[in-house]
Amino acid sequence: RAEGDPLITEVQDWNRYLGAGVDETPYGMPSEYEAHVVRRDVPWLTADPVSSVNFTPLHELDGIITPNGLCFERHHGGTAIIDPADHRLMINGLVDTPLVFTMQDLMRFPRENRVYFLECAANSGMEWRGSQLNGCQFTHGMVHCVVYTGVPLKHLLAEAGVKTSGKWVLAEGADASAMTRSIPMEKALDDCLVAFKMNGEALRPEQGYPVRLVVPGWEGNMWVKWLRRLEVGDQPWAQREETSKYTDLLANGKARRHTWVMDVKSVITSPSPQAPITHGRGQTVISGLAWSGYGTIKRVDVSLDGGRNWHEARIDGPSLPKALHRFYYDFNWDGSELLLQSRAIDERGYIQPTKNELRAARGENSIYHNNGIQTWYVQADGVVENVEVS
Ligand code: MTE
Ligand code: CO
Repeated sequence: RAEGDPLITEVQDWNRYLGAGVDETPYGMPSEYEAHVVRRDVPWLTADPVSSVNFTPLHELDGIITPNGLCFERHHGGTAIIDPADHRLMINGLVDTPLVFTMQDLMRFPRENRVYFLECAANSGMEWRGSQLNGCQFTHGMVHCVVYTGVPLKHLLAEAGVKTSGKWVLAEGADASAMTRSIPMEKALDDCLVAFKMNGEALRPEQGYPVRLVVPGWEGNMWVKWLRRLEVGDQPWAQREETSKYTDLLANGKARRHTWVMDVKSVITSPSPQAPITHGRGQTVISGLAWSGYGTIKRVDVSLDGGRNWHEARIDGPSLPKALHRFYYDFNWDGSELLLQSRAIDERGYIQPTKNELRAARGENSIYHNNGIQTWYVQADGVVENVEVS
């Protein structure tokens, strides 16, 4: 469009000189112009970075797969650094034969490849009482989605031989927090994986190298990293992470517990506070993510006016159960203010609730399992803010 644009009419350096040869970066890195695409934390959120969280830069990503280096990290005792040669996975408790597996042993069991999202139960937790953090990286970035390669947990349990009284599995991590969660046997035998690869390469240390538990559709806390032990028992253990944490205090003083499944949820990733509209009015792409721990996403609707009118969005890319789905809504922006919302409907037909509907059902004390509809206020100049509509 520009007449005499020097980027068209002049020969540029990258066109004039030879570039770096192969092996300049034996392990490839993103372009230097993408240096702003990084995980970020919220410094005031936790007292110390070893028991903390950082967030996936959802506003910079597209498609459904999260690059390994951008998967949010949530550790309770820092990242354990383990030589796979020194790692052991033990199965004990109510089994016929207690077993210890080396990594090499695990590699001899039949493997599966599955794409799953992992969402921390605390994702969007800071938004429970009102809009707070200005960016979908911070409001929704405790989620990632990769293809896992691993051994179905049922094969390992079968190898040890679960006794008929064995109804629960306790998964334990080898890190300094020794994270432990009780998992019902039906889930363990259904779709759990003992995974050692993500997106084709070894798990990153932050994600539990050399091996982690994958508990599809269920809260991230159960996906024990640096997995070192599976104990079979006849009842849940009532560990810290399933009593004092990861339970939801209701208005009547009772707490919900064993709230495992991550319910249907969606968010517009662009435009969003960290990704304002900079191109002015006209043709505009709204892009977002939707997911459900109950299966696939059947439909996503987008509203431009705070939920008064809804338009069906276009889901593009694979629609896999318990995985992120990518949606788009392509429209002609007239430059007026917008109250952007997205609302996902999963294969059960369950519709993502508003935040007020959630509060009406569960009171104001919750942190976990906030799947309420997010609102972004787009100003006429394209600047975007996190708001709520009543
Ligand atoms: N496993 C161990 N061993 N230690 C931990 O601190 N954190 C849990 C879970 N598994 C944790 C763990 C929590 S709360 C979440 S949300 C996920 O791991 C985060 O996984 P990620 O760091 O790969 O994103
Ligand atoms: Co978590």
